[in-house]
Amino acid sequence: MPYALPPLHCALKMMSRKKALLLLLLVLSTLSLLIHQSAHLNCRSPKPSSPGCPPAPSSRPKHTSVTFLKTHKTAGTTVQNILFRFAEQHNVTVALPHHACDHQFCYPRNFSARFVHPHTLPPRIIASHLRFQHQELRRLMPNDTLYVTILREPVAMFESLFTYYNQYCSAFKRVPNGSMEAFLANPLAFYRPQEKFSMYAHNTLLYDLGGDNDHSPADPTYLPSFIRQMEEVFSLVMIAEYFDESLVLLRRLLSWDLEDVLYVKLNMRGPRSKGNISSEALAARIRAWNGLDARLYDHFNATFWRKVAQAGRECVAEEVRALRRACEQLLRRCFGGRPQLRPATQIKNKELRPWQPSSKVDIVGYDLPPPMPGSGAPPDERCLKLAMPEVQYSRYMLRKQSQRTRRRAMLHRPLPPRGVPRPARALPLRHPTMPKAA
Ligand SMILES: *[C@@H]1O[C@H](CO)[C@@H](O)[C@H](O)[C@H]1NC(C)=O
Ligand SMILES: *[C@@H]1O[C@H](CO)[C@@H](O)[C@H](O)[C@H]1NC(C)=O
Ligand SMILES: *[C@@H]1O[C@H](CO)[C@@H](O)[C@H](O)[C@H]1NC(C)=O
Ligand SMILES: *[C@@H]1O[C@H](CO)[C@@H](O)[C@H](O)[C@H]1NC(C)=O
Ligand SMILES: *[C@@H]1O[C@H](CO)[C@@H](O)[C@H](O)[C@H]1NC(C)=O
Ligand SMILES: *[C@@H]1O[C@H](CO)[C@@H](O)[C@H](O)[C@H]1NC(C)=O
Repeated sequence: MPYALPPLHCALKMMSRKKALLLLLLVLSTLSLLIHQSAHLNCRSPKPSSPGCPPAPSSRPKHTSVTFLKTHKTAGTTVQNILFRFAEQHNVTVALPHHACDHQFCYPRNFSARFVHPHTLPPRIIASHLRFQHQELRRLMPNDTLYVTILREPVAMFESLFTYYNQYCSAFKRVPNGSMEAFLANPLAFYRPQEKFSMYAHNTLLYDLGGDNDHSPADPTYLPSFIRQMEEVFSLVMIAEYFDESLVLLRRLLSWDLEDVLYVKLNMRGPRSKGNISSEALAARIRAWNGLDARLYDHFNATFWRKVAQAGRECVAEEVRALRRACEQLLRRCFGGRPQLRPATQIKNKELRPWQPSSKVDIVGYDLPPPMPGSGAPPDERCLKLAMPEVQYSRYMLRKQSQRTRRRAMLHRPLPPRGVPRPARALPLRHPTMPKAA
């Protein structure tokens, strides 16, 4: 709106007083209408809760130290995007991987605090892929950190892993005709536990959580004791199938506002690349092969619904409805409606083009609508970040935090002789992780 004023001002000078006054009135009433409408669109306060439900913007201060263990193919990228945007808005430092680790913390290696880029120390939020190591994270994160993760139903998850990592995981590559049926008919014919990225083919959730994904399912004590440890560490285990309910529990745990958890789904496959496990027999084979993950999931799905019951099913359902309404409003503002999912080649803004795991899979994304002709206005920052894929957002955050660190280093000279201290031990040579996005 400010850029509408100078030309108006000039126009006023040239007009008679009366006409100018009339015009001014007209402009003012239009402005007030616009402001009213945009306040309406922003809808900061969701409808008052039903009796018995806690008020949606909590009166407690927002909790800002969070470890989000981002698991693979579980909608984790969408949660990461929520956390990154929160961190930017609240000036919270996010731990990001050292260059030698790509945009994951040297996954699939065990997480080490040495993998964290020194310009992102000390962090309050961590949300990039890593293999969980509680001791190391405790060294890195503040002592009031809340731990959160997300699990996905193993049949759908395995189908997703099989397609997405088909070119990286040798166990999958070895299968004739890329047939998942052939793999599941005899997994041990293709799977070699020692191979790089073998974890994408077997109990991937358990691996990401730091467990032994090849542990014998016949051992009756292993999984229950693993689950007990997880329950001690994680305050919330979200479930991808109940994503909005999960976000409501997350918002409540952290005392955030509903505004802080609005999202669009990121890192999704296009319809051409989506499989469909329609056969019960195939689903049963996937669950049998990933037996540890299946039991882990069932346990935490049950825990999840107990938490929903504790929070009050109706209260959670009501907040889910408020969340969906608020998301739709944001999408209308950013994209003029539900954004259309597009293949990367059709996305004009390269900051918004998602990374493609291989030529055989398309990961779709969003483009922002073109700016008003002639306005030359840059895209709305909030909308841009909402749709920004993981690789670009991670790079952007690292650049931004590095600039801040350098500015601070300039102010506090002469502490370190030059630059910022390196990690205590030199990093090993680049680990053969996945190739960088183009
Ligand atoms: C974050 O930092 C910026 C610049 O340093 C400042 O303008 C802004 O008010 C801060 N925001 C919060 C929520 O602290
Ligand atoms: C990684 O962590 C797991 C589980 O804590 C442990 O069994 C394994 O030995 C570790 N691997 C390395 C290379 O340190
Ligand atoms: C957490 O750390 C702060 C200072 O860093 C300390 O004052 C506090 O006692 C610690 N709390 C716990 C529970 O260890
Ligand atoms: C692979 O596909 C081709 C053509 O669809 C078929 O002729 C061949 O038998 C398949 N191979 C296996 C091992 O299933
Ligand atoms: C999957 O396949 C089944 C049967 O072939 C069909 O009924 C179902 O609609 C399909 N689901 C999707 C998501 O395509
Ligand atoms: C998760 O648990 C709920 C409640 O017990 C159940 O109704 C639902 O079918 C479970 N979901 C999956 C995907 O197993």
